[in-house]
Amino acid sequence: MTQVFGVIGNPVAHSLSPMMHTAAYRETGISAAYVPFHVKDDGLSDAVRGIRGLGLAGINVTVPHKITVMEYLDELDETAEMIGAVNTIIHDKKQNKLIGYNTDGEGYLRSLRPRLKKPLADTRVLLLGAGGAGRAVAVTLAKKGVRQLTIANRTLSSAEALAEDCGEEVRALPLETAQASLMEFDIVINSTSVGMTPNTGQMPISLEKLSSRTLVSDLIYTPWKTRFLREADKKGAETINGAGMFVHQGAMAFEIWTGIQAPVKVMERTVVEKLR
Ligand code: ATR
Repeated sequence: MTQVFGVIGNPVAHSLSPMMHTAAYRETGISAAYVPFHVKDDGLSDAVRGIRGLGLAGINVTVPHKITVMEYLDELDETAEMIGAVNTIIHDKKQNKLIGYNTDGEGYLRSLRPRLKKPLADTRVLLLGAGGAGRAVAVTLAKKGVRQLTIANRTLSSAEALAEDCGEEVRALPLETAQASLMEFDIVINSTSVGMTPNTGQMPISLEKLSSRTLVSDLIYTPWKTRFLREADKKGAETINGAGMFVHQGAMAFEIWTGIQAPVKVMERTVVEKLR
C-alpha cells in the first residue's frame, strides 16, 4: 500500500519538502506520497490526531508548530527533548505511538562536516542567534563534541539561557562583542533571520574583522547567497549556505521513516535546481 508522508506548517505552500521527498521515493522505488498540509494554530491537535486516524506514516513539522506539537506526541527522542522542538514525527503503528524527533541540528552538522578543517573538539564556533534554528544547531554541536562554542544574540538573555542548556563552557555574548572578536573563530554561523528575503540588504553583524581562514555559514537559503555570505566572499573566506542543512534534515527524516539510506545527491539536486 502507498505510504503517506507530509509536512504540517503555516505557511506551507512554498515548502520544498514535497518535491525533495518525492524525488527520493522515485529514486529508491518506494511507493509513497508526500503532501503539504496547511494547519493553523487552532487546528494542530486535530491534525496530529489525523496522523493516527488516517494512518499516515510520518510527518515533518515546520513553523510555527515545532514547539507546540510536542504536547500532542507520546514520546520524544532525547535530542528533540534537549532542543525543545520537533521537526519529524514517526507514527509507530504497531505500538500506536507518535514519536517526535528533531533532525535540524544533526542535518546542519552533516552539511558542515565535509567543510571542517579540524576535529569538532578543536573548532572554535561563533553562533549568531538563539531562536529556534539556533537552538537546534547549538545543542547538537555541543552534544557532538564542540567544546569552544560562543553564542551571540541581540537579546543577550536568550543567548545566556541557550548557553546554559548547552553546557558549562559555552559562552554568551552581545552581538557587538562578537563582532569585535570575529578573528578568534574558525566558523561563524548566522542562525538569525537577518538577511532573509525580502530583507536582503541586512547583516546580523559587520564582517570587517573577519579572517579569510574563517568558514562563514548562513542557515538562510533564500536568497541563495545572503549579503552576509557575499561580504564573506569578498574577504576571501569560504562560505556555506543553508540549503545543505535543509537537504540533510530531510534526508535524516527519510532514513528514520524508511530505514533506507537517503539518496542525498538526488534530494540536493531538486533543491538546487529550484533555488539557485
Ligand atoms: P527561527 O525559528 O528562524 O530561528 P526565531 O526563533 O524567531 O526564528 O529566531 C529569530 C532569531 O533571529 C533570534 O535570535 C532573533 O534575535 P532576538 O532573540 O533578539 O529576537 C534574531 N533576529 C531577528 N531579527 C533580528 C534583527 N533585526 N537583528 C538581530 N537579530 C535578529
